[in-house]
Amino acid sequence: MEPKVILVTGANKGIGYEVVRQLCALGHQVLLSARSEAKGTEAVARLKAEGIHARFLQMDVAREEQVRAAAQEVAGQFGRLDVLINNAAVLLHDDKHVSEDQATVFEKTWRTNVTGPLLTVKYFLPLMPPGSRIINTSSGGGSMTDPVGGWSPAYCISKSALNALTRHLAFELANRQITVNAYCPGWVRTDMGGRAAPRSVQQGADTAVWLATARVQETGKFFRDRRIISW
Ligand SMILES: NC(=O)c1ccc[n+]([C@@H]2O[C@H](COP(=O)([O-])OP(=O)(O)OC[C@H]3O[C@@H](n4cnc5c(N)ncnc54)[C@H](OP(=O)(O)O)[C@@H]3O)[C@@H](O)[C@H]2O)c1
Repeated sequence: MEPKVILVTGANKGIGYEVVRQLCALGHQVLLSARSEAKGTEAVARLKAEGIHARFLQMDVAREEQVRAAAQEVAGQFGRLDVLINNAAVLLHDDKHVSEDQATVFEKTWRTNVTGPLLTVKYFLPLMPPGSRIINTSSGGGSMTDPVGGWSPAYCISKSALNALTRHLAFELANRQITVNAYCPGWVRTDMGGRAAPRSVQQGADTAVWLATARVQETGKFFRDRRIISW
């Protein structure tokens, strides 16, 4: 397989970090992106200690000027991007009751979880040739058909919006032969998922790595465990 240039946002820890680890191990050139330079370089150093070589790219997805600058950096270094994996997201502690919470909870969540992927697509798209892929890390919490559990409503609404964004982008980019899909990693043991979650980061990362590298022709779909699930 031709090595691809792949960018993973919010990859200094958790599922994103594991996605980077697995993609590097498959021989791809992977950009480990993080908003914190200190955390990002430390993550790259941890991988290097395992014999895995990723490149650090500083980018806060909620800050448009940083996304623009990061895209310019990738244009200069590689001249292209084959796969964009939007992984960065927040789930705020005070995200409890949509009818009562401060509007800032909703706004901050939306800025990272929805505007962030929109900005990365906008600025990296010019680098993406036909055959490229955009993968949005969503959640069953954003599903309109799964039972709604009543947890973290701003987060769940942001993932519903990310699913909708996935479908619209898939339609818009079909004529450029760029596929756009969303996936749910399941409930995973990370800082966000907590210790009680049943899945490891290896299990959580699997579908993203598969969507990035396998012969997947689908676009505008929602996946879990390598299978299409309903929105
Ligand atoms: N864990 C689960 O059970 C689960 C389930 C369904 C979906 N997901 C999704 O899977 C993805 C990864 O989650 P995770 O569990 O690995 O969470 P995590 O351990 O909390 O990691 C989230 C990552 O996103 C980064 N981030 C947050 N805001 C950012 C911003 N504005 N710009 C750039 N990076 C930013 C964080 O950076 P800092 O270290 O600087 O905060 C961190 O690296 C998310 O999209 C999440 O919604 C997770």
